[in-house]
Amino acid sequence: MLNVETVRKDFPILSRKVNGQPLVYFDNAATSQTPQVVIDAIVDYYSNYNSNIHRGVHFLSQEATDKYEIARQKIQHHFNAEYSHEIILTAGVTAGINLVANGFASILKKGDEIVVSALEHHSNIVPWQMLCDKSGAILKVIPMNLEGELVMDAFEALLSTKTKLVFVNHISNALGTINPIKQIIKKSHRIGAAVLIDGAQACPHIKVDVKQLDADFYLASAHKMCGPTGVGILYGKQQWLTKLPPYQGGGEMIDQVTFEKTTYAGLPHKFEAGTPNISGVIATGVAIDYLNKIGFDAISNYENELLTYATNQLLAIEDLKIYGTSKNKTSVISFNIGNIHPYDIGTIVDKFGIALRTGHHCAQPIMDFYKIPGTIRASFAFYNTKEEIDKLVSALFKAKQMLS
Ligand code: ALA
Repeated sequence: MLNVETVRKDFPILSRKVNGQPLVYFDNAATSQTPQVVIDAIVDYYSNYNSNIHRGVHFLSQEATDKYEIARQKIQHHFNAEYSHEIILTAGVTAGINLVANGFASILKKGDEIVVSALEHHSNIVPWQMLCDKSGAILKVIPMNLEGELVMDAFEALLSTKTKLVFVNHISNALGTINPIKQIIKKSHRIGAAVLIDGAQACPHIKVDVKQLDADFYLASAHKMCGPTGVGILYGKQQWLTKLPPYQGGGEMIDQVTFEKTTYAGLPHKFEAGTPNISGVIATGVAIDYLNKIGFDAISNYENELLTYATNQLLAIEDLKIYGTSKNKTSVISFNIGNIHPYDIGTIVDKFGIALRTGHHCAQPIMDFYKIPGTIRASFAFYNTKEEIDKLVSALFKAKQMLS
């Protein structure tokens, strides 16, 4: 069982004040907070072995390279990938999606189809639209229902021999819906399509096994998993990563360079041009260890408890409407109160030291579906408490009074 008071002591930021009030941080879907062990790992790198990797024979370079590659192996084991070279380290999930989309530009032909879902973040829509412009492929969309779930019959109807790529998020950032990705992967594979899953919102809450899922590509973001910003994890099956061309040219991704011709390095280096975020990747390994030490079962049980508690408390506010009511959802609550603009509520509750996200959450098609400009989003992590939820509810009552 998770002891939240003990856990909170690991996060220095949780004891600060904002606007004279103890911080209540409910913007975890945007970025999670960082435990001291992760901060220490970054300080340790710059204090003791700051050096470039894969380049020098000198002591520091070897030390940094070893720690960087150990972090890659930790990530491999965490996601249960077959090989460590199936883990490509990027600047973020967006960079990973663009890497794959760029690679598919040379594979897709005019008239091929790409299927995405109505629940996607803009980073899971725009790169595929750009890919369609380049390749002549056509984008098809799996529709959603009022509960914020994907309509699976409609998904099956979209699949055909023309479908080459299916792209769906594991969990919606705007609504918290957990999508039936195992089913989606199985059905897509039946017609020979490759499947890419954006796991940015899932990996902080769920332990993901890419082999069990049989995903062709799976993406995760370090800064949503108690790690630093600027590190993305792209898992790709070896056969796909071998097939895709490099995304960026530069140092470290080559085998031989002459002015006549360049040959490329093998995996994973083919996709890792330039000096990477060395301290960030090493600290990501530490963050993954930290989460595993707490345990994903303990994390998801506790977060589900927070979700149920918060949903009940929030629904006591008159005119409050929750968007995204699937039974399969994670600890994200998107809502509005009457016709009050989400931004106005967000600004008032900030005065009480409460951090929420307001707006379209980079998911404008979802807002268009509900015909709203945006929502107020509270997203909970395992270090949040029921007392903090009570503070939010009380601040919302006050905001409502002021704005009605
Ligand atoms: N994608 C992040 C969010 O949902 C930034 O807030």
